[in-house]
Amino acid sequence: MSLKIAVIYGSVRSQRKGIKGAKFIVNKCKERNWDVNLIDAKEYEHPFLDKMYKEFPEGEAPEVMQKVSNLLKSADAFIIVSGEYNHSVPPALTNLIDHYQSEYFFKSSAIACYSGGTLGGVRAGIHLRAFLSELGMPSIPTMFVMSKVQSSFDDNGNAIDESYEKRIKKFLDELEWYAEALKEAREKGTPY
Ligand SMILES: Cc1cc2nc3c(=O)[nH]c(=O)nc-3n(C[C@H](O)[C@H](O)[C@H](O)COP(=O)(O)O)c2cc1C
Repeated sequence: MSLKIAVIYGSVRSQRKGIKGAKFIVNKCKERNWDVNLIDAKEYEHPFLDKMYKEFPEGEAPEVMQKVSNLLKSADAFIIVSGEYNHSVPPALTNLIDHYQSEYFFKSSAIACYSGGTLGGVRAGIHLRAFLSELGMPSIPTMFVMSKVQSSFDDNGNAIDESYEKRIKKFLDELEWYAEALKEAREKGTPY
């Protein structure tokens, strides 16, 4: 089954490094012939949350929100690529995600976390579990943890540290299982 995956990445810093890890994940999804879109908060610029997408009358949401809503709506599952700022989730990432809601319902998510240090952003990853469940996109058990993200991947998203090749396979195999199971289940209908 071909899957449609949205990879959501939310650092807007000019010196950001997590984009290397996000590109690695996008590349690996493409190798599986998945239809993958990178929703990068720097490319799809959102203001600090005022109105959620659903609060705009039909056809009146800003163009960027219309585009992102469509990408999220059409996705079968989400990969959230999160750095760790002060042991938690970067604000530009939660700000982007907060603009949408029903687009996520009854779909699976997967957490890919990273940091510049050795712990790979796991503390932000733990926070994300509750956050993503609340949004109706519970996360798969395996987290894809990227430590020293700045030196583990090159600018094109190729792994410099080869151990990532093995770990990404398990992570994406697991996501595929959940995404396909929920896709089939959604086709039979959802409670709301
Ligand atoms: C505001 C801020 C807070 C940070 N807090 C943490 C932290 O709590 N733990 C950690 O391991 N790294 C922390 N870092 C370092 C980041 O892991 C590192 O800068 C990483 O590259 C940030 O992701 P980005 O480059 O995609 O924005 C912090 C960085 C910033 C800018």
